[in-house]
Amino acid sequence: MIVLGIETSCDETAAAVVVDGLDVRSNVVSSQVDLHARFGGVVPEIASRAHLELVNGVIAEALAGAGIGFADLDAVAATSGPGLAGALLVGVSAGKAVALARGIPYVGVHHLEAHLQAAWLQDRAVELPLVVLLVSGGHTMLVAVRGDADYEVLGETVDDAAGEAYDKVARLLDLGYPGGPAIDRLAATGDPRAVRFPRPMLGDGLDFSFSGLKTAVLHQVRRTPDVPVADLAASFQAAVVDVLVAKLAVAADGIGARTLVIGGGVAANSALRAAVGRLGTETGRRALIPPPVLCTDNAAMIAATGYRRLRRDGPDRLDGGATPSLPLPGVRRP
Ligand code: KG4
Ligand code: ZN
Repeated sequence: MIVLGIETSCDETAAAVVVDGLDVRSNVVSSQVDLHARFGGVVPEIASRAHLELVNGVIAEALAGAGIGFADLDAVAATSGPGLAGALLVGVSAGKAVALARGIPYVGVHHLEAHLQAAWLQDRAVELPLVVLLVSGGHTMLVAVRGDADYEVLGETVDDAAGEAYDKVARLLDLGYPGGPAIDRLAATGDPRAVRFPRPMLGDGLDFSFSGLKTAVLHQVRRTPDVPVADLAASFQAAVVDVLVAKLAVAADGIGARTLVIGGGVAANSALRAAVGRLGTETGRRALIPPPVLCTDNAAMIAATGYRRLRRDGPDRLDGGATPSLPLPGVRRP
């Protein structure tokens, strides 16, 4: 089954062609980062307009990249939530238009469920149960996956998301937007032991808190402005990664996970990737670390998840819209 995936929930306009939910034939991402950078964050109205301008071209590029045309598609999947309302509507409308014009099924996909499923695009023989550390600009979660659409949220952030903390600290250090990649790059040249930042909620359950850490960086900068920025970046990153990996380890023990997976934009972080790789080796668990392009927002994960949702639940009606605060399907909380 050849599925076209479309993703427009935030500031990435993306389209991809995936066969049978596993085989990525094309994966096109057009980032709007440059448009939003001077505002220091995503401006919803600018994002919607840019999606509108870009979406047709991105879809055409995804089809061309896969060497197919609209007539070859068997289904269309688009992110229907959560995300920015106006941004989501662009992808949903484009997806439904293709489905209507071609007379093929349409399915709306949950953005976070797609991040959880990205692991299968890297390796189709993922051993269950697995625990996913989902760390993006909007979410920080530990999720147990025991089967198809069997998710249990084990912990999540009580305030800022990990990516949000990266972005805010980067702004504080004058490193520009988006902050995650900037801090990641700079931290490679700094000393992670230069400043001992707090490890919020370490040893205290599976929930996270990052807003205090951001404040700690602010106080440090004010108190000792002469500490090199690279050292601050490395020390901040060490604190974030310590907490994320420690809680991933506890979650994995708790559910007897066979596999550790990371997903979401912050999963592109080099220190986190290395630390999760080490945790896998130390605990005899497989660490599945998808390439950065499958961790950050992309449409291959949307097409793959759409394929599974179609097989499981069938298509969605074409009068369905977008839901900015869509709850994750099939979720249980302990
Ligand atoms: O999943 P994503 O692409 O978009 C959503 O939020 O859904 O994640 C974006 C977030 C941003 O906060 C960005 O700063 C962060 O991921 N990020 C990183 C890195 N690359 C992106 N954070 C740390 N290190 C990176 N290399
Ligand atoms: Zn995302």
